[in-house]
Amino acid sequence: MALRRAASQLTALAGRAAAPIVRNATANPVAPTAFRAPSVGIAAQQSRSYAHVIINQHRDTEFNNEKLAWDYTPENMKLVTDILAKYPENYKQSAMIPMLDVAQQQNDGWLPVSAMNRVAQLLGVANMRVYEVATFYSMFNRNPVGKYHVMICGTTPCMVRGAQKIEAALEEHLGIKKWGTTDDGMFTLGEMECMGCCVNAPMVVVADYTGGTKDYTYNYYEDLTPDSVKKIVDTLKRGEKPKVGSQIRDKAEPAPGQTTLLEPPTGPYCRDLTDA
Ligand code: FES
Repeated sequence: MALRRAASQLTALAGRAAAPIVRNATANPVAPTAFRAPSVGIAAQQSRSYAHVIINQHRDTEFNNEKLAWDYTPENMKLVTDILAKYPENYKQSAMIPMLDVAQQQNDGWLPVSAMNRVAQLLGVANMRVYEVATFYSMFNRNPVGKYHVMICGTTPCMVRGAQKIEAALEEHLGIKKWGTTDDGMFTLGEMECMGCCVNAPMVVVADYTGGTKDYTYNYYEDLTPDSVKKIVDTLKRGEKPKVGSQIRDKAEPAPGQTTLLEPPTGPYCRDLTDA
């Protein structure tokens, strides 16, 4: 079912892929500062299929359609040129993800269809190839987000260590449901799967788009409690920088402390490394 839905979305985009791209343009002129989640029930808002719709499904709107001009700024085009220089000419499509990343940072945290088309044009690939990548990786947003995109880790270790309490605290404190954006366009609440610091679970990541491409950050906040995550949000609101990483210690290790590799391993070893 999900595969069928994804296929029909990609087919819909492909049908429009041949439209001309307007060149020598700057940022999308009518993009709203924040995307408002459609009015649906709370249960639906919390479902992952709803997240899929918000993140991946394209519907032409006045702020996101192929007729709107989009291009990299001259500064960012230099970054793109540097990225492209890392790959051989016949494999330059390997630059797609970093190029999309620059486009998203330039465009306040989301990728309009015109930006994806521009990437395709620069790489000499079909627009569809870029849509496939941008809709597959959850770090790419297909609709506007707030200046701070707060993503709660929703995978098992964070869940068993209290991710749902973190989510509830953020929803209550920001006055929005997951996948929503605050009225002032400052915060969007989302979810990610395991971000690789399970030992300091629960955690959130915050993508900060307040400084454009130059000052963009993507920081982890770990060992969270409902109170500490609210403090992080309040600090961001004041325009300050919260402590990055664990909120209660300076390392990544199990809650009771280190439990392995406390002494030199006794062997037997898989091979003798003496002369290696
Ligand atoms: S489960 Fe949350 S970081 Fe791995």
